[in-house]
Amino acid sequence: MFDQFERSINYLRISVTDKCNLRCVYCMPAGGVPPMRHGDVLSFEEIVDVARTAVEMGVTKVRVTGGEPLVRRNIVALVSMLAGIDGIRDYAMTTNGIRLSEFAADLAAAGLQRVNVSLDAVEPGRYAELTRGGDVREALAGIAAARAAGLSPVKLNCVVQESPEEPDARAVLAFGQAEGLEVRFIRRMNLSQGIFSVVIGGTGGDCARCNRLRLSCNGLVRPCLFSDLGFSVRELGPRGAIRRAVEAKPACGGKSNEMFHTIGG
Ligand code: 5AD
Ligand code: SF4
Repeated sequence: MFDQFERSINYLRISVTDKCNLRCVYCMPAGGVPPMRHGDVLSFEEIVDVARTAVEMGVTKVRVTGGEPLVRRNIVALVSMLAGIDGIRDYAMTTNGIRLSEFAADLAAAGLQRVNVSLDAVEPGRYAELTRGGDVREALAGIAAARAAGLSPVKLNCVVQESPEEPDARAVLAFGQAEGLEVRFIRRMNLSQGIFSVVIGGTGGDCARCNRLRLSCNGLVRPCLFSDLGFSVRELGPRGAIRRAVEAKPACGGKSNEMFHTIGG
């Protein structure tokens, strides 16, 4: 499908939970966030219904994200249900990797093709600071498990303050190079201030070429990370919500009151 600016929309990012087992300083408040009402969170059946409809309408690329997707109960079952949709050519997950050593083999067996793992530092103390308590050994074990499971390619997402020249970012790059893994750098964004940037070495943030739609965990199809527009699949049905979101997709991002943990970057 095409939007009003002739952009081909073929990529759906699905946030399956707003919860996370880390508290990255730029993403989550230290105390966490008030839990979403359980009934507001889409069921697996509802998510699959939206994804299947999106694929019928032209989506070929699907990414499962969060919050942290691996904290959603029974996530492997959902990954498997989505894998059953005919027509998905690229099927990926974005995760912080903390629980990947537990899940990587099952995810691969369920049909997931690849993972992007968020890794902002490799030095244990710095990782703990940036994630407010995360254990980098778990993330690194998760990365190793993903490789061993054949989730390929494993890419590393590294959020930087200003530039990839910062010491933490250089260390992540060195780790990636030593392991033969692609590293992409993302400048810290602030949605409410409308501060966003292109993903260095990736495809995000380039409005003129943006091919994305997002499904938030509470059932809004959102055409742009940097806009508050959202269309409820429960009110409009999946097809209606997707159509309205594509029609309303802005030429370029502005500001949003949304937070990353509900929409998954
Ligand atoms: N700026 C840039 N990237 C962010 N992410 C979360 N919050 C921000 C932010 N404020 C990233 C995570 C992860 C992806 C889901 O989004 O680090 O890689
Ligand atoms: Fe969790 Fe990812 Fe947000 Fe970090 S950036 S708190 S890992 S959702």
